[in-house]
Amino acid sequence: MKRKLIVIGTLILASLGLSQCKDEPPASSSSVSYGTPFNLDVPAGFPSPNIPADNPMTLEAVSLGRHLFYEKSLSDDNSISCATCHIQERAFTDVSALSVGTRGLEGRRKAMPIFNLAFQEFFFWDGRTSSLEEQSLHPILDTLEMDNDLATVMQRLAADPLYPPLFEAAFGDPAITEERIAKSLAQFERTLISANSKFDRVIRLQTGEQFTPLEQRGYELFTSDFDPNGGFGGDCFHCHGERETQYLFGAFGRDLQFVNNGLKDVYADQGRAEVSNDPADIGKFKVPSVRNVEFSFPYMHDGSVPTLDSLIGFYNFGGHKHQNIDPNMKAAGIGRNWSAGQKQALAAFLRTLTDYEFLQDTTFSNPFE
Ligand code: HEC
Ligand code: HEC
Repeated sequence: MKRKLIVIGTLILASLGLSQCKDEPPASSSSVSYGTPFNLDVPAGFPSPNIPADNPMTLEAVSLGRHLFYEKSLSDDNSISCATCHIQERAFTDVSALSVGTRGLEGRRKAMPIFNLAFQEFFFWDGRTSSLEEQSLHPILDTLEMDNDLATVMQRLAADPLYPPLFEAAFGDPAITEERIAKSLAQFERTLISANSKFDRVIRLQTGEQFTPLEQRGYELFTSDFDPNGGFGGDCFHCHGERETQYLFGAFGRDLQFVNNGLKDVYADQGRAEVSNDPADIGKFKVPSVRNVEFSFPYMHDGSVPTLDSLIGFYNFGGHKHQNIDPNMKAAGIGRNWSAGQKQALAAFLRTLTDYEFLQDTTFSNPFE
């Protein structure tokens, strides 16, 4: 009876064009999904999510991914998990400027905030990977992060009574493979959606929600080249704009995915040029989202900007006139000469992008606590 069901299942899958090559072992079967479908709730105005056809989301795989995200045995000495550097209350970024790996190893970049990744096309500051499945194994292998090898990770998970049943629920049998680790981590990462800040509620015209005059003034500065009251606006919208990036407030689908914002005179970290080998890409980095910026400090690829005040100070200074600086940084080398009131207004607007529900959502928190 059971066998018959499997045969029928295979026939159905085959007729849908989803069947596996006959002699491929089930452990690597990638097109077949098990478990309960997980419907990703895409916020209004957001782009459509990138979910690979061979990794459809299920409650069980998301749950497995969540456990793995908080699993310290992914690191060589069992000391750190993904969540050590990606802390939920800090919009899943780190408190230290340069990330600290296993055995106290100092990394070369600031850990990036993690949310709304389902809608993005490139990952890491230099955009060197283009899928979350590919991205999620990097930190395990990175010698400055978890510094582990996958054989060890698979062995440890197989020996832990918790994991074989979780893999079975997610993938149909208890085999633990690299591919399944990558897929389930990617699935959990796709669920991390942040779209319920005050800004969102104001834009959705939710009753009782409106900007204060100060926030409204900051919104004006954020979305203008030139301040209607004279002088420079913030220009922020060109790169972090709401409409321009379909409410992601960061890199999305345009030529402004990797940009040089004049953070440095001389870049020790070449950024995008490390991937493209094109000198015109020196100092270009993935445009991070400014959602939850109130809590994602310290900022920038090297964590060199410690607070929200100093961030506004940097954009008031206007940026260094690096050869690759983006033309949208019009105030570079000149400065914006903002008043204290203008700075305060911009800060007030940026704080409306905090999504407290996301920062405290217990479906994203440590499942071991
Ligand atoms: C030691 C600290 C550390 C650990 C542990 C760590 N990360 Fe990261 N993460 C970073 C740093 C640093 C970057 C930026 C790296 C770069 O650009 O080269 C990053 C970047 C990312 C990004 C890219 C985000 C974007 O917007 O492009 C994702 C996703 C991510 N990490 C997920 C994970 C997952 C999943 C794990 C666990 C398997 C993990 N990280 C473990 C420090 C860490
Ligand atoms: C020309 C494009 C551009 C403009 C205009 C721009 N930014 Fe940025 N922003 C970037 C890039 C690129 C980075 C990352 C740079 C790096 O790490 O070296 C960045 C980083 C940031 C960060 C750090 C986020 C993090 O997680 O580290 C914040 C916050 C920010 N910008 C806010 C603003 C505000 C506010 C304005 C307007 C006053 C603005 N940006 C204008 C491109 C831009």
